[in-house]
Amino acid sequence: MSAQQLKCRECGAVYPLDPIFVCERCFGPLEVLYDYDTLPRPLQRTFEAGPKSMWRYEPLLPSRRDPEIDLAPGFSPLLHALRLGRKLGLERLYIKNDSVNPTWSFKDRVVGVAIVTAKHFGFDVAACASTGNLANAVAAHAARAGMRACVFIPRGLERGKVLATSVYRPTIVEVDGNYDEVNRLCAQIAEEHRWAFVNVNLRPYYSEGGKTLGFEVAEQLGWRAPDHVVVPIASGSLLVKIHKGLSELHRTGVIPSVRTKTHGAQAEGCAPVANAFAAGQDQIQPVKPQTIARSLAIGDPADGRYVLRLARENGGRILAVSDEEIVEGISLLAETEGVFTETAGGVTVGVLRRLAEEGVFGPEEVVVAYITGMGLKTAEAVEDVVAPPIAIRPTLRDFESNVLSLVR
Ligand SMILES: Cc1ncc(COP(=O)(O)O)c(C=O)c1O
Ligand SMILES: [Zn+2]
Repeated sequence: MSAQQLKCRECGAVYPLDPIFVCERCFGPLEVLYDYDTLPRPLQRTFEAGPKSMWRYEPLLPSRRDPEIDLAPGFSPLLHALRLGRKLGLERLYIKNDSVNPTWSFKDRVVGVAIVTAKHFGFDVAACASTGNLANAVAAHAARAGMRACVFIPRGLERGKVLATSVYRPTIVEVDGNYDEVNRLCAQIAEEHRWAFVNVNLRPYYSEGGKTLGFEVAEQLGWRAPDHVVVPIASGSLLVKIHKGLSELHRTGVIPSVRTKTHGAQAEGCAPVANAFAAGQDQIQPVKPQTIARSLAIGDPADGRYVLRLARENGGRILAVSDEEIVEGISLLAETEGVFTETAGGVTVGVLRRLAEEGVFGPEEVVVAYITGMGLKTAEAVEDVVAPPIAIRPTLRDFESNVLSLVR
């Protein structure tokens, strides 16, 4: 393992690998620093020989896999999206279908790293501030690791998400407020009580799990970086870490170059990063979220500034789509590719479509759209746009008169 220290992303101060997350000098966020020179070469051989999960990338993760508690997230399909691509005029469009994880979202990757790290530091209780999917993943991983779980969610989340979390029997706390208020409360609790808040005091470790969505796509493309990625943004961590993953592959000699444009996707009802991007500002103005994409409803995104900086450096765009476009995006992906995504995926497909219409992608370029969560969790979003089944009596006559003409 090559993780060595934590380093402040703002002033560069270094700290030991402890459960800390802010710089004492400048209050900047900390991230894990690796010694890339000590890694085995060629690194891709080590990866390819590893387990068929995100843990094949263990040399570039901050903690070691523990087979007794691993739920094996990752190694999800990268689908060449021929039909959707044809509709959008893209020959080399790929869907990274990360809705097939143990709790049906990419959050299993970040939580997989956080939980082994929490065990390593000797925590008994796993906790989080969540917009839904994270609570789901923390509850499941804590159950498997034999830890207690206490997850905090805002009021009004989708039934499917809450149910899919409750089944693991965590303590679920529904806070009368939005995500940003939940997050603030969790930061206060983390100061007073020695709990492993995966996205607060373990955030430097947790967020590293997002890199595996960069590593995996590069491997599935035959060890090369895509020309474009389209990534949904809540806190912005995932987008930044996908790029960090690709950059690390370049730095360690696994891929020849990284010229990837990182495009970010938000909902119009919660678009603080897209707003700042459009206005040419470096600072994020927090908003009060109002959108059906509840998993992306973070009004004050912790990594927003880093997303902006990155997109400006590499030519990416940050766009927002309406709730209507989100539902259209969900339907379009389901009808063309057989993948049923949640509202966050509808945001991704909506923005992908806009970018394609605006001519951002070249015809030969490889475009990867990240589908990060599963559709049944937000079933409410499509309830009104799908057709009900056709009811018939069990007779051939009923079938021929009511059904046959519809299927032709
Ligand atoms: C399904 C889904 N996709 C994407 C994201 C965005 O993650 P991040 O906070 O790293 O931007 C989330 C966050 O909760 C999510 O639930
Ligand atoms: Zn600092």
